[in-house]
Amino acid sequence: MDYHLDLNWPDFIERYWQKRPVVLKRGFKNFIDPISPDELAGLAMESEVDSRLVSHQDGKWQVGHGPFESYDHLGETNWSLLVQAVDHWHEPTAALMRPFRALPDWRIDDLMISFSVPGGGVGPHLDQYDVFIIQGTGRRRWRVGEKVAMKQHCPHPDLLQVEPFEGIIDEELEPGDILYIPPGFPHEGYSLENSLNYSVGFRAPSGRELISGFADYVLQRELGSHRYADPDVPSRAHPADILPSELDKLRGMMLGLINDPEHFNQWFGEFISQSRHELDVAPPEPPYQPDEIYDALKQGDSLLRLGGLRVLRIGDAVFANGEKIESPHRPALEALTSSMALNGESFGDALDDPSFLAMLAALVNCGYWYFADQD
Ligand code: SIN
Ligand code: CO
Repeated sequence: MDYHLDLNWPDFIERYWQKRPVVLKRGFKNFIDPISPDELAGLAMESEVDSRLVSHQDGKWQVGHGPFESYDHLGETNWSLLVQAVDHWHEPTAALMRPFRALPDWRIDDLMISFSVPGGGVGPHLDQYDVFIIQGTGRRRWRVGEKVAMKQHCPHPDLLQVEPFEGIIDEELEPGDILYIPPGFPHEGYSLENSLNYSVGFRAPSGRELISGFADYVLQRELGSHRYADPDVPSRAHPADILPSELDKLRGMMLGLINDPEHFNQWFGEFISQSRHELDVAPPEPPYQPDEIYDALKQGDSLLRLGGLRVLRIGDAVFANGEKIESPHRPALEALTSSMALNGESFGDALDDPSFLAMLAALVNCGYWYFADQD
């Protein structure tokens, strides 16, 4: 199903993106849920899927982690089931993320879905990332406060909350409404009815993640073996002193690695094209031969991109799940980066090049793309 988002993106980015929270009333008109509460509950019973049950009673909060074996113990109020990266496991839900490709693919993370009964929610809290919360079935009251320094506390070891706050937004969301919240704005949603919410989450690496990711790359590739040298070692007032010029030289050695555009781009492409959540990879058995891929595509079969697979481009280089895809066939690479479903025509004459076919076969055999009728 195609979801059409009624939004003036340039205007939204200028006024709200990373700046102010806003309710986009009926952002999706005639909204139809891509998943049912039962299907969501079923996913949370799978061991690969990351899920939580959050409940509260008389101010006491409980958090349980999936996989869950049963939901029989739950009452009719005050709990919420939250499932991460549902787009990786349930293909139709991924369609809800497409309209957000007006923002860069590399910034988009996953689709978290929650099912809440009346009174259900995770309490007042802050998130580090931008989020679009889409209201599905049911009604839920959402409040968002001003971004000010706030004390955080843990009413349960796995739950981080903030103190009560005054709402700058206080609205009952109905199906198809969207609440956009930039990082750091406190918010809380309490369900008024049994309710589904879809959170399109974004990612923004921290300096710590970047440094540690780049350090991993340097180690894996055994870069930076060049050692500090000082044939003109400067004299100093005290042997314990490290001179500013020496610190500059040391910093220069580190920056030299980061400033190497080839390594920096290669590293960032690998780093950012890896998903933060597990992928539902199912490599075909037996693996495809390149000519089988050719025949299938020529017969009109379609290749689908695995849910949650990140396919990103830096210049002419394409990265998928941490691997660089190299080919001189730019239109075919362009098709891999832009479309979720590909057919013979998408690849054009690249299919007649054995090296391109071999590369495509390798991607299919990793489970990154799969034939539409495979399962
Ligand atoms: C939810 O409860 O559906 C969303 C949780 C959040 O506020 O991030
Ligand atoms: Co939140």
